[in-house]
Amino acid sequence: MADERELIRARVSLVELVGDEVRLQKRGKNWTGLCPFHDDKNPSFTVNDQTGSYRCWSCGAKGDMFTWVMETQRVTFREALEFLAKRAGIELTARPAQDSNKRGTYEGAMNAAQEFFASQLFKTSAATAYCFGRGLTEEVLKQWEIGFAPDVEEGLPTHLKKSGFSLADCKELFLVDGDQDRGYASKFRARLMFPIRDERGALVAFGGRLLSNGIPKYINSSDTPIYSKRRVLYGMHRAKDTISKKNRAVLVEGYLDVIACHAAGVTEAVASLGTSLSEDHAKMLARWCKQVTILYDNDAAGQKAAERASAMLEEAGLVVTVALMPPGEDPDTLLRTSGAGAVARAAEGGLTPVDFRILRLQGIYQPTQPEYWQEVVAVLATASALDRERLVQELAPTYPGLRDPIAARQALKNQIRDYGRQPAQPRQGGATGPRRRERFGRSEMTGPERALLLALGDPELRAPAWAAVRQPELFGTTLAYDIATMLRDRFEDDPPAGAFALWGHDLTPEALRFTYAEMLAGHAERLDAEVVRDSLERLRQKLSQNLLRASWQQSTPDDTALSQINEKLRELKGSG
Ligand code: UTP
Ligand code: MN
Repeated sequence: MADERELIRARVSLVELVGDEVRLQKRGKNWTGLCPFHDDKNPSFTVNDQTGSYRCWSCGAKGDMFTWVMETQRVTFREALEFLAKRAGIELTARPAQDSNKRGTYEGAMNAAQEFFASQLFKTSAATAYCFGRGLTEEVLKQWEIGFAPDVEEGLPTHLKKSGFSLADCKELFLVDGDQDRGYASKFRARLMFPIRDERGALVAFGGRLLSNGIPKYINSSDTPIYSKRRVLYGMHRAKDTISKKNRAVLVEGYLDVIACHAAGVTEAVASLGTSLSEDHAKMLARWCKQVTILYDNDAAGQKAAERASAMLEEAGLVVTVALMPPGEDPDTLLRTSGAGAVARAAEGGLTPVDFRILRLQGIYQPTQPEYWQEVVAVLATASALDRERLVQELAPTYPGLRDPIAARQALKNQIRDYGRQPAQPRQGGATGPRRRERFGRSEMTGPERALLLALGDPELRAPAWAAVRQPELFGTTLAYDIATMLRDRFEDDPPAGAFALWGHDLTPEALRFTYAEMLAGHAERLDAEVVRDSLERLRQKLSQNLLRASWQQSTPDDTALSQINEKLRELKGSG
């Protein structure tokens, strides 16, 4: 046995073996790559072919080709030995005990099933007609080893038994169902069969598609002793060379999309199978490349899945772009309607995930809806500083209620900054008033606020300004609010008449009276009716926006508060 091990060491290259699963690059006499044993961001994993050992400088994992196989495939030493002997093309002298070679048995059974399905395809004209009808050429069918499961219960079990496999084992592999007494039946019947290989190329599962419309469209192997759908991407073993060379992968939704992409020359395409993209999938891709383009259907479900997948991939440290398919198309239909070039072009384009999320929100909401801004703020709050800055600039012009671009940008930035902070509990008696001003207020007075307060001092412009002052909550900053309240409290129903000197002397408190008097005396602004109208309009829009925001920030709004908000909104709409 020691000789056998030496022979294996001599014949198997550790670099090639590891290279099946890790993207390695030559650095001096070693090969380096991202360590598969921990969450590696910089290549800290090295392989030395001369000494036949690997080592991670970051997590400390180390060993030789035997430990490599044991750890990456989670098998016993004996199984690793058998695996490597097979790879080295040597016969092991000591026969394994019956069950230590379970993995080999499973592999054999899977291959026997594949043989059976492949042999059936060209015997079944309905199946080949279906394939040709979908543009799957004979060459493509062979490449992807597509087969057919006939509509007979005992076909597959009979073949497996004849090939020497226990049907109880085959049941564990999701090939057959049943038991000794009732007999066994094929799991897949009347279905086009897609063999699923893991990244090393081992056959681990099947997906079977009905030839006609029916439910379920696909049956996929569930997890078995040799298959975990969370860890396998369809097409990976064929795609990994291109993925490594181009340093990017294309992620599509289904079997036929992978096949179509490869046929169109996009040979870096893979798909997760009957399951959404998992963390393990993302980590596997991160071992092979830096960038992933998501090419999902451009419908609601596809967009949602793309958003989820992009978050998952970014989490794994990948650079993600989201390419949008033309509406109603997937790579498979696009290949047939518009040709290989169209598929390749679709896979080239792409938005950053943040832009994609914003675009998606714009498809769901109008910029006048508070929900839209709530979602936008949530997206921007977690974006990079660079993306955030760029998108604030881009989106601010559509921010409702603030026509001044600087003010709009600032308002949006404030919302982003406040995102995730505990929202203040709206006090009893409504969301307006001092408490609200603390949340939205700024220390200085805004332009429109100042304009309205100044207009009140001008007998010519007093009437429209009075409408604002009677509603002090229109004033968002503390000083303006306090001055407006002082004026309202003093005059109640009738606006003051004549010059400030005639009515200003008995305003209280004194400090505010002085401030207001100074404002009126010292101002240089030119005011007219239009400025006043415009300022009032702005303050109204701003307030309704704040009210709506306050209502959505209340997690469990009480009825009184809500009806008060609604009444305020009606009032704002009605006045003016
Ligand atoms: P699609 O419904 O887009 O199927 O599902 P498709 O592969 O494009 O097939 P055609 O073009 O309609 O023939 C995308 C993927 O979702 C999984 C499969 O992996 C499929 O390829 N799926 C779908 C299932 O696992 N089960 C289903 O019933 C449907
Ligand atoms: Mn399709």
